[in-house]
Amino acid sequence: MVLVVPVVKWNVSFGPNMPELYEAAMSGIDAYSQGYLRQWDASATIRTRPRYRLSATQSLGDLFPAALQPLAAHPAVTALGKGAVEELLVRTAYKFQSEVASIEVEVVTALCNALSVRKLHFALPESARHVALTIATDEVYHAYVAREFIADVQRLSGIEPPSLDGLESQVAKAVSFVKRTAPPEFLGEAETMALCFAENFVTDELFNMWKGVEDDNPFRTILREHLVDEGRHQKFFQNLMRHMWDRLDVAAKDALGRLLPGFLDVFLMDNATMREGAVETLGALGFDRARSLEIMAEAYAGEGDASASKHARKHVAQCTNLIRSSGMLDHAPAREALIESGWAAP
Ligand SMILES: [Fe+2]
Ligand SMILES: [Fe+2]
Repeated sequence: MVLVVPVVKWNVSFGPNMPELYEAAMSGIDAYSQGYLRQWDASATIRTRPRYRLSATQSLGDLFPAALQPLAAHPAVTALGKGAVEELLVRTAYKFQSEVASIEVEVVTALCNALSVRKLHFALPESARHVALTIATDEVYHAYVAREFIADVQRLSGIEPPSLDGLESQVAKAVSFVKRTAPPEFLGEAETMALCFAENFVTDELFNMWKGVEDDNPFRTILREHLVDEGRHQKFFQNLMRHMWDRLDVAAKDALGRLLPGFLDVFLMDNATMREGAVETLGALGFDRARSLEIMAEAYAGEGDASASKHARKHVAQCTNLIRSSGMLDHAPAREALIESGWAAP
Protein backbone atom coordinates (compact mmCIF):
# COMPACT_ATOMS: atom_id res chain seq x y z
CA MET A 1 0.00 0.00 0.00
CA VAL A 2 2.80 2.41 0.89
CA LEU A 3 4.47 1.76 -2.45
CA VAL A 4 1.48 2.71 -4.59
CA VAL A 5 0.68 6.08 -2.99
CA PRO A 6 3.34 8.03 -4.95
CA VAL A 7 1.95 6.61 -8.22
CA VAL A 8 -1.41 8.16 -7.41
CA LYS A 9 0.13 11.51 -6.47
CA TRP A 10 2.24 11.68 -9.63
CA ASN A 11 -0.84 11.26 -11.76
CA VAL A 12 -2.96 13.91 -10.09
CA SER A 13 -2.07 16.28 -12.94
CA PHE A 14 -3.86 13.98 -15.41
CA GLY A 15 -7.12 15.14 -13.84
CA PRO A 16 -9.89 12.91 -15.28
CA ASN A 17 -7.72 9.79 -15.06
CA MET A 18 -6.95 10.23 -11.44
CA PRO A 19 -9.89 8.28 -9.91
CA GLU A 20 -9.27 5.39 -12.28
CA LEU A 21 -5.55 5.30 -11.53
CA TYR A 22 -6.21 5.60 -7.84
CA GLU A 23 -8.68 2.74 -7.89
CA ALA A 24 -6.39 0.53 -9.97
CA ALA A 25 -3.40 1.22 -7.75
CA MET A 26 -5.37 0.52 -4.61
CA SER A 27 -6.59 -2.80 -5.95
CA GLY A 28 -3.21 -4.45 -6.01
CA ILE A 29 -3.50 -5.54 -9.64
CA ASP A 30 -1.17 -2.75 -10.71
CA ALA A 31 1.65 -3.87 -8.42
CA TYR A 32 0.90 -7.48 -9.32
CA SER A 33 1.05 -6.74 -13.05
CA GLN A 34 4.31 -4.83 -12.74
CA GLY A 35 5.84 -7.82 -10.96
CA TYR A 36 4.39 -10.05 -13.66
CA LEU A 37 6.08 -8.04 -16.40
CA ARG A 38 9.46 -8.41 -14.67
CA GLN A 39 8.86 -12.15 -14.31
CA TRP A 40 7.87 -12.43 -17.98
CA ASP A 41 11.12 -10.78 -19.03
CA ALA A 42 13.11 -13.21 -16.88
CA SER A 43 11.31 -16.48 -17.57
CA ALA A 44 8.92 -16.49 -20.55
CA THR A 45 9.82 -19.35 -22.89
CA ILE A 46 9.88 -17.10 -25.94
CA ARG A 47 12.41 -14.81 -24.26
CA THR A 48 14.66 -17.23 -22.45
CA ARG A 49 15.03 -20.72 -23.86
CA PRO A 50 15.44 -22.80 -27.00
CA ARG A 51 12.38 -24.94 -27.65
CA TYR A 52 12.36 -28.73 -27.76
CA ARG A 53 12.47 -30.30 -31.24
CA LEU A 54 11.80 -33.92 -32.14
CA SER A 55 14.78 -35.99 -33.23
CA ALA A 56 14.84 -37.87 -36.54
CA THR A 57 14.89 -41.16 -34.59
CA GLN A 58 11.86 -40.38 -32.45
CA SER A 59 9.61 -43.40 -31.84
CA LEU A 60 6.13 -42.62 -33.21
CA GLY A 61 4.42 -44.53 -30.42
CA ASP A 62 5.72 -42.00 -27.84
CA LEU A 63 4.35 -38.88 -29.50
CA PHE A 64 1.17 -39.09 -27.46
CA PRO A 65 1.10 -41.14 -24.23
CA ALA A 66 -1.06 -44.25 -24.64
CA ALA A 67 -2.12 -43.84 -20.99
CA LEU A 68 -3.93 -40.60 -21.97
CA GLN A 69 -5.73 -42.13 -24.96
CA PRO A 70 -8.19 -44.87 -23.82
CA LEU A 71 -8.90 -45.81 -27.47
CA ALA A 72 -5.33 -47.14 -27.83
CA ALA A 73 -6.06 -50.07 -25.51
CA HIS A 74 -9.43 -51.01 -27.06
CA PRO A 75 -9.32 -54.60 -28.42
CA ALA A 76 -10.73 -53.51 -31.81
CA VAL A 77 -7.74 -51.14 -32.20
CA THR A 78 -5.02 -53.42 -30.78
CA ALA A 79 -6.29 -56.21 -33.06
CA LEU A 80 -5.13 -54.11 -36.02
CA GLY A 81 -1.50 -54.37 -34.83
CA LYS A 82 1.26 -52.15 -33.44
CA GLY A 83 1.37 -49.90 -36.53
CA ALA A 84 -2.33 -49.04 -36.16
CA VAL A 85 -1.91 -48.20 -32.46
CA GLU A 86 1.04 -45.94 -33.36
CA GLU A 87 -1.01 -44.26 -36.07
CA LEU A 88 -3.84 -43.69 -33.60
CA LEU A 89 -1.38 -42.04 -31.19
CA VAL A 90 0.15 -39.89 -33.94
CA ARG A 91 -3.32 -38.77 -35.01
CA THR A 92 -4.20 -38.03 -31.36
CA ALA A 93 -1.04 -35.93 -31.06
CA TYR A 94 -2.07 -34.06 -34.22
CA LYS A 95 -5.53 -33.42 -32.77
CA PHE A 96 -4.11 -32.20 -29.49
CA GLN A 97 -1.55 -29.85 -31.07
CA SER A 98 -4.10 -28.60 -33.63
CA GLU A 99 -6.44 -27.68 -30.78
CA VAL A 100 -3.61 -25.91 -28.97
CA ALA A 101 -2.76 -23.96 -32.13
CA SER A 102 -6.40 -23.03 -32.68
CA ILE A 103 -7.31 -22.11 -29.09
CA GLU A 104 -4.18 -20.04 -28.56
CA VAL A 105 -4.60 -17.88 -31.64
CA GLU A 106 -8.32 -17.73 -32.26
CA VAL A 107 -9.48 -17.50 -28.66
CA VAL A 108 -6.81 -16.50 -26.14
CA THR A 109 -4.68 -14.19 -28.29
CA ALA A 110 -7.75 -12.51 -29.78
CA LEU A 111 -9.28 -11.87 -26.35
CA CYS A 112 -5.95 -10.71 -24.85
CA ASN A 113 -5.47 -8.28 -27.71
CA ALA A 114 -8.97 -6.92 -27.11
CA LEU A 115 -8.32 -6.70 -23.36
CA SER A 116 -5.24 -4.59 -23.99
CA VAL A 117 -7.21 -1.83 -25.72
CA ARG A 118 -10.93 -2.10 -25.11
CA LYS A 119 -13.11 0.20 -23.02
CA LEU A 120 -14.40 -1.56 -19.92
CA HIS A 121 -16.86 -0.77 -17.13
CA PHE A 122 -14.08 -1.11 -14.55
CA ALA A 123 -10.68 0.49 -14.10
CA LEU A 124 -7.85 -1.59 -15.50
CA PRO A 125 -4.33 -0.17 -15.18
CA GLU A 126 -1.95 0.12 -18.10
CA SER A 127 0.34 -2.49 -16.50
CA ALA A 128 -2.44 -5.12 -16.65
CA ARG A 129 -3.18 -4.25 -20.28
CA HIS A 130 0.53 -4.64 -20.95
CA VAL A 131 0.43 -8.09 -19.33
CA ALA A 132 -2.39 -9.00 -21.75
CA LEU A 133 -0.01 -8.21 -24.62
CA THR A 134 2.70 -10.47 -23.15
CA ILE A 135 0.16 -13.29 -22.84
CA ALA A 136 -0.92 -12.78 -26.45
CA THR A 137 2.78 -12.98 -27.40
CA ASP A 138 3.24 -16.23 -25.42
CA GLU A 139 0.14 -17.77 -26.97
CA VAL A 140 1.06 -16.99 -30.56
CA TYR A 141 4.43 -18.59 -29.82
CA HIS A 142 2.72 -21.67 -28.34
CA ALA A 143 0.66 -21.94 -31.53
CA TYR A 144 3.84 -21.64 -33.59
CA VAL A 145 5.50 -24.45 -31.58
CA ALA A 146 2.38 -26.63 -31.90
CA ARG A 147 2.27 -26.19 -35.69
CA GLU A 148 6.01 -26.81 -35.97
CA PHE A 149 5.51 -30.06 -34.02
CA ILE A 150 2.75 -31.13 -36.43
CA ALA A 151 5.02 -30.42 -39.42
CA ASP A 152 7.92 -32.33 -37.79
CA VAL A 153 5.70 -35.35 -37.10
CA GLN A 154 4.36 -35.28 -40.65
CA ARG A 155 7.95 -35.47 -41.94
CA LEU A 156 8.78 -38.30 -39.53
CA SER A 157 5.64 -40.38 -39.99
CA GLY A 158 4.36 -39.57 -43.46
CA ILE A 159 0.87 -39.38 -41.91
CA GLU A 160 -1.22 -36.48 -43.21
CA PRO A 161 -2.31 -34.13 -40.39
CA PRO A 162 -5.89 -32.84 -40.19
CA SER A 163 -6.62 -29.46 -41.73
CA LEU A 164 -6.74 -26.54 -39.29
CA ASP A 165 -9.42 -24.91 -41.45
CA GLY A 166 -12.80 -25.01 -39.78
CA LEU A 167 -11.50 -26.58 -36.57
CA GLU A 168 -13.69 -25.26 -33.76
CA SER A 169 -12.55 -26.16 -30.26
CA GLN A 170 -14.96 -26.45 -27.34
CA VAL A 171 -13.41 -23.26 -25.91
CA ALA A 172 -14.15 -21.43 -29.18
CA LYS A 173 -17.75 -22.69 -29.11
CA ALA A 174 -18.16 -21.45 -25.53
CA VAL A 175 -16.74 -18.02 -26.43
CA SER A 176 -19.07 -17.86 -29.46
CA PHE A 177 -21.94 -18.51 -27.04
CA VAL A 178 -20.79 -15.50 -24.99
CA LYS A 179 -20.52 -13.29 -28.09
CA ARG A 180 -24.07 -14.27 -29.13
CA THR A 181 -25.68 -14.08 -25.71
CA ALA A 182 -24.00 -11.28 -23.71
CA PRO A 183 -25.77 -7.91 -23.55
CA PRO A 184 -23.76 -5.72 -25.99
CA GLU A 185 -22.97 -3.13 -23.31
CA PHE A 186 -21.22 -5.79 -21.19
CA LEU A 187 -19.56 -7.76 -24.00
CA GLY A 188 -16.07 -6.65 -22.87
CA GLU A 189 -16.66 -7.88 -19.33
CA ALA A 190 -18.33 -11.08 -20.56
CA GLU A 191 -15.43 -11.95 -22.87
CA THR A 192 -12.94 -11.11 -20.12
CA MET A 193 -14.80 -13.47 -17.79
CA ALA A 194 -14.73 -16.20 -20.47
CA LEU A 195 -10.99 -15.64 -20.93
CA CYS A 196 -10.35 -15.93 -17.18
CA PHE A 197 -12.29 -19.21 -16.96
CA ALA A 198 -10.76 -20.66 -20.14
CA GLU A 199 -7.18 -19.92 -19.07
CA ASN A 200 -7.76 -21.35 -15.61
CA PHE A 201 -9.29 -24.54 -16.96
CA VAL A 202 -6.87 -25.17 -19.82
CA THR A 203 -3.81 -24.69 -17.58
CA ASP A 204 -5.17 -27.21 -15.11
CA GLU A 205 -5.92 -29.69 -17.91
CA LEU A 206 -2.36 -29.42 -19.22
CA PHE A 207 -0.95 -29.82 -15.71
CA ASN A 208 -3.04 -32.95 -15.07
CA MET A 209 -1.87 -34.43 -18.38
CA TRP A 210 1.78 -33.60 -17.57
CA LYS A 211 1.53 -35.38 -14.19
CA GLY A 212 0.37 -38.57 -15.87
CA VAL A 213 3.30 -39.01 -18.29
CA GLU A 214 6.69 -40.70 -17.72
CA ASP A 215 9.76 -38.43 -17.40
CA ASP A 216 11.49 -39.24 -20.68
CA ASN A 217 8.42 -38.83 -22.91
CA PRO A 218 8.69 -36.03 -25.54
CA PHE A 219 5.05 -35.13 -24.94
CA ARG A 220 5.89 -34.42 -21.29
CA THR A 221 8.79 -32.18 -22.33
CA ILE A 222 6.55 -30.23 -24.70
CA LEU A 223 3.88 -29.85 -22.02
CA ARG A 224 6.47 -28.73 -19.45
CA GLU A 225 7.68 -25.96 -21.75
CA HIS A 226 4.10 -24.82 -22.31
CA LEU A 227 3.28 -24.94 -18.60
CA VAL A 228 6.18 -22.63 -17.72
CA ASP A 229 4.09 -19.86 -19.28
CA GLU A 230 0.62 -21.13 -18.46
CA GLY A 231 1.16 -21.26 -14.69
CA ARG A 232 1.94 -17.54 -14.84
CA HIS A 233 -1.12 -16.84 -17.02
CA GLN A 234 -3.41 -18.74 -14.68
CA LYS A 235 -2.46 -16.65 -11.63
CA PHE A 236 -2.88 -13.41 -13.58
CA PHE A 237 -6.37 -14.37 -14.72
CA GLN A 238 -7.37 -15.35 -11.17
CA ASN A 239 -6.29 -11.87 -10.06
CA LEU A 240 -8.02 -10.23 -13.00
CA MET A 241 -11.34 -12.00 -12.39
CA ARG A 242 -11.33 -10.94 -8.73
CA HIS A 243 -10.29 -7.39 -9.65
CA MET A 244 -13.05 -7.09 -12.26
CA TRP A 245 -15.79 -8.57 -10.10
CA ASP A 246 -14.93 -6.31 -7.15
CA ARG A 247 -15.44 -3.24 -9.34
CA LEU A 248 -18.49 -4.04 -11.47
CA ASP A 249 -21.83 -2.43 -10.73
CA VAL A 250 -24.98 -4.41 -9.97
CA ALA A 251 -26.25 -4.38 -13.57
CA ALA A 252 -22.99 -5.86 -14.88
CA LYS A 253 -22.86 -8.47 -12.11
CA ASP A 254 -26.46 -9.46 -12.84
CA ALA A 255 -25.64 -9.83 -16.55
CA LEU A 256 -22.49 -11.93 -15.98
CA GLY A 257 -24.24 -14.04 -13.36
CA ARG A 258 -26.97 -14.88 -15.89
CA LEU A 259 -24.41 -15.63 -18.61
CA LEU A 260 -21.88 -17.80 -16.77
CA PRO A 261 -23.98 -21.02 -16.41
CA GLY A 262 -24.63 -21.18 -20.18
CA PHE A 263 -20.96 -20.54 -20.92
CA LEU A 264 -19.87 -23.31 -18.52
CA ASP A 265 -22.46 -25.71 -20.00
CA VAL A 266 -21.02 -25.29 -23.50
CA PHE A 267 -17.42 -25.20 -22.30
CA LEU A 268 -17.40 -28.09 -19.83
CA MET A 269 -20.46 -30.28 -20.35
CA ASP A 270 -20.58 -30.77 -24.09
CA ASN A 271 -18.27 -33.47 -25.42
CA ALA A 272 -19.30 -33.11 -29.09
CA THR A 273 -15.88 -31.81 -30.19
CA MET A 274 -14.06 -34.65 -28.48
CA ARG A 275 -16.52 -37.24 -29.84
CA GLU A 276 -16.24 -36.00 -33.42
CA GLY A 277 -12.44 -35.92 -33.09
CA ALA A 278 -12.42 -39.56 -31.99
CA VAL A 279 -14.79 -40.54 -34.83
CA GLU A 280 -12.41 -38.90 -37.31
CA THR A 281 -9.33 -40.57 -35.79
CA LEU A 282 -10.94 -44.01 -35.73
CA GLY A 283 -12.30 -43.41 -39.23
CA ALA A 284 -8.72 -43.06 -40.47
CA LEU A 285 -8.10 -46.60 -39.16
CA GLY A 286 -11.07 -47.90 -41.15
CA PHE A 287 -13.91 -47.86 -38.58
CA ASP A 288 -17.25 -46.41 -39.69
CA ARG A 289 -19.09 -43.87 -37.57
CA ALA A 290 -21.39 -46.33 -35.81
CA ARG A 291 -18.54 -48.68 -34.87
CA SER A 292 -16.37 -45.72 -33.80
CA LEU A 293 -19.08 -44.53 -31.41
CA GLU A 294 -19.34 -48.04 -29.94
CA ILE A 295 -15.58 -48.27 -29.49
CA MET A 296 -15.60 -44.87 -27.80
CA ALA A 297 -18.42 -45.80 -25.44
CA GLU A 298 -16.60 -49.01 -24.47
CA ALA A 299 -13.18 -47.36 -24.10
CA TYR A 300 -14.51 -44.57 -21.89
CA ALA A 301 -16.91 -46.75 -19.85
CA GLY A 302 -16.27 -46.13 -16.16
CA GLU A 303 -14.45 -42.84 -16.78
CA GLY A 304 -15.94 -39.53 -15.62
CA ASP A 305 -18.59 -38.98 -12.98
CA ALA A 306 -21.77 -38.33 -14.94
CA SER A 307 -24.03 -38.90 -11.95
CA ALA A 308 -22.57 -36.09 -9.80
CA SER A 309 -24.05 -32.59 -10.03
CA LYS A 310 -22.14 -30.25 -12.33
CA HIS A 311 -20.28 -28.33 -9.64
CA ALA A 312 -19.11 -31.56 -7.98
CA ARG A 313 -17.52 -33.11 -11.06
CA LYS A 314 -13.79 -33.51 -10.84
CA HIS A 315 -12.90 -31.93 -14.18
CA VAL A 316 -14.66 -28.64 -13.39
CA ALA A 317 -12.90 -28.00 -10.05
CA GLN A 318 -10.67 -25.24 -11.40
CA CYS A 319 -13.71 -23.30 -12.65
CA THR A 320 -15.71 -23.72 -9.44
CA ASN A 321 -12.62 -22.55 -7.51
CA LEU A 322 -12.56 -19.44 -9.69
CA ILE A 323 -16.28 -18.83 -9.04
CA ARG A 324 -15.49 -18.89 -5.31
CA SER A 325 -12.21 -16.91 -5.34
CA SER A 326 -13.63 -14.17 -7.59
CA GLY A 327 -16.36 -13.32 -5.08
CA MET A 328 -19.20 -14.10 -7.52
CA LEU A 329 -21.09 -16.07 -4.89
CA ASP A 330 -21.35 -12.93 -2.71
CA HIS A 331 -23.74 -11.41 -5.26
CA ALA A 332 -27.16 -12.95 -4.62
CA PRO A 333 -28.53 -13.00 -8.22
CA ALA A 334 -25.29 -14.55 -9.55
CA ARG A 335 -25.23 -17.08 -6.71
CA GLU A 336 -28.86 -18.03 -7.36
CA ALA A 337 -28.27 -18.44 -11.11
CA LEU A 338 -25.25 -20.67 -10.41
CA ILE A 339 -27.10 -22.78 -7.83
CA GLU A 340 -30.18 -23.13 -10.05
CA SER A 341 -28.07 -24.32 -12.98
CA GLY A 342 -26.06 -26.75 -10.83
CA TRP A 343 -22.78 -24.78 -11.01
CA ALA A 344 -22.71 -23.99 -7.28
CA ALA A 345 -23.74 -26.00 -4.23
CA PRO A 346 -27.07 -24.89 -2.66
FE1 LIG B 1 -0.57 -21.36 -24.16
FE1 LIG C 1 -2.25 -19.10 -21.55
